[in-house]
Amino acid sequence: MARVAIVTGGSRGIGEAISVALRDAGMTVAANYAGNDERAREFTERTGIKTYQWDVSDYDACLAGVAEVESELGPVDVVVNNAGITRDGTMKRMERQAWDDVIDINLGGCFNMAKAVWNGMNERKYGRIVNIGSINGQAGQYGQVNYAAAKSGIHGFTKALAQEGARAGITVNAIAPGYIDTDMVAAVPPDVLEKIVAKIPVGRLGQASEIARGVTFLCAEEGGFITGSTLSINGGQHMY
Ligand code: CAA
Repeated sequence: MARVAIVTGGSRGIGEAISVALRDAGMTVAANYAGNDERAREFTERTGIKTYQWDVSDYDACLAGVAEVESELGPVDVVVNNAGITRDGTMKRMERQAWDDVIDINLGGCFNMAKAVWNGMNERKYGRIVNIGSINGQAGQYGQVNYAAAKSGIHGFTKALAQEGARAGITVNAIAPGYIDTDMVAAVPPDVLEKIVAKIPVGRLGQASEIARGVTFLCAEEGGFITGSTLSINGGQHMY
């Protein structure tokens, strides 16, 4: 039977590309989204992938959302924690709310979703969890203390959870995208973005499909020995 995958933030941007790629790899995909109903409807019409609305920063909503997906599609074997926001600003200007929102959604969402599927994956002795981190969680970024902290947290979360899941056949990995051609990156002021792109050795922004390809790789049945790893897909912008 086809594996069931949940992709958070799965109807737009990088998440959309991941949902489509996992569907093309033979999985039954549930694309979670936060609030853009119109975009979700349009996405389902175009791709045939079902969407489910809940806020990943809300723990109870994640439990209920996963239960709904499982009752409709079957046990969840794959989770891609992709949902994320930016609230950029220098420390001087950043309000506490911008910190809380980014930490709660980007990092808290990973905990909530992993928790919601963890017992089931342990019982079935199979799971694939992929967390979308960021180059800015690895290297930091001016104007992003909140986002860099959340994404850096995702990388630590991944390595810790990988150790807990290993004996139960659950792999937990991260992808660290660089600057990808999405609405999120389009929101960066053009002059700032121009300087960032100038520092990417490959000389261009990445495509969402280039991240999705990495996710598909990590979620494959054959991926059982890859766990706790971080796959950087950033055009060579940050190497270590
Ligand atoms: N290092 C040092 N100084 C810097 C700097 C840097 N990287 N960037 C800007 N500065 C300086 C500027 O030169 C300026 O100095 P002066 O006042 O002396 O002229 C000062 O800091 C203020 O800079 P801004 O005019 O940029 O300040 P602002 O308040 O208008 O904007 C900002 C700040 C919102 C952070 C803006 O710079 C910005 O949007 N930066 C981009 C942040 C970014 O890359 N976000 C990534 C979003 S995409 C994403 O996150 C996806 C992913 O995973 C990769």
